[in-house]
Amino acid sequence: MKAEKKEPSSDNTLTLEQFQETVLQEQLTPLWMGAVGQLREPHTHIEPYLWRWKELRQRVTQSLKLIPLGDQGAERRVLTLRNPGIPVPRMGTTHTLIAAIQVIAGTEVAPSHRHTMAALRFIIEGEGACTVVNGEPESMQPRDLLLTPNWYWHGHFSEHPDPMIWLDGLDVPLVQGLGATFQENYPSPDRRQPITAPRDESIRRYSAGGLLPVGDRTADKNSPLLNFRWAQTEDRLTQMAERDGSPYDGVALQYTNPFTGGPVMPTIDCWIQMLRPGDQTKTHRHTGSVIYHVVEGSGWTVINGKRFDWATGDIFCLPPWVWHDHANASSGQRAILFSFADTPVLKAFDLYREEAYAENQGRQPVEATF
Ligand SMILES: [Fe+2]
Ligand SMILES: [Fe+2]
Repeated sequence: MKAEKKEPSSDNTLTLEQFQETVLQEQLTPLWMGAVGQLREPHTHIEPYLWRWKELRQRVTQSLKLIPLGDQGAERRVLTLRNPGIPVPRMGTTHTLIAAIQVIAGTEVAPSHRHTMAALRFIIEGEGACTVVNGEPESMQPRDLLLTPNWYWHGHFSEHPDPMIWLDGLDVPLVQGLGATFQENYPSPDRRQPITAPRDESIRRYSAGGLLPVGDRTADKNSPLLNFRWAQTEDRLTQMAERDGSPYDGVALQYTNPFTGGPVMPTIDCWIQMLRPGDQTKTHRHTGSVIYHVVEGSGWTVINGKRFDWATGDIFCLPPWVWHDHANASSGQRAILFSFADTPVLKAFDLYREEAYAENQGRQPVEATF
């Protein structure tokens, strides 16, 4: 039944409490009731959380047997990592990003589609799968980083009996929050986009960094290099490990758009970082949220006093504006973290801030271990 709209009361005898109660029902919030306090520094419902690889791998392997791909099953065989601060069925590993685990095997085909959400894939294990991006097949190998930017057609196919498992990263909650989510299926009966370019052509053209083909530049804000091969990434990391690292991140490298030197996609920044044996970083905090995947090694990250111990394959998330530092648990082995963050969005609007922890020789105390 439609509620009857009351005329605003002109009664001058209203108490403040009566006034507040009345205006709240009229979809008005007096600013003096506490809202301003929420603006003094970032408040978030996102919690720091860690997903263990052993469990993730078991679940994604179970899903392989339970749900087929394609018209008779799932568009993508994906488990998204939901932050404890986000209610079902909403998606969000942080308030702006999602991480997910995807698996494909045998002769399966994940049909082509495109969406305004930008996506990346960091390959965890397996062999013999390809992602086709705007007609170009990109072969996937463990620890490669692949991009499928906003509105690029993409589908996956497998050519190997064993499963290939990867980490997906997308800006879904950000794009949802901006009211700009669109998705469409490839318009052919089998939903397979035609192959129109040689396999791994983007690597051939754009992976040399400082040497780029003349005349290839476009106004596209996304990296033309769609696959960052692990061999090259590891080579750079190893060489940089002989130099000084960042006090907050160890030896950290940003994956960049070779045309601009900026982030690989306008909404998502990707990093690879090495904590050398025995490395322990200082504590800092910054705006923006980050999702980490442990590529190799073991160690811990302290987030607002809570210590999260991690090992190879684990995934954990960092809410915005939380104190954090990292440590390699081993005195003999390196630890490597891949991460992606919403930082480019904050920087584009002058909202990025960073602060160093000042007390205790720059390192926060540990209050609890998870
Ligand atoms: Fe997709
Ligand atoms: Fe950080």
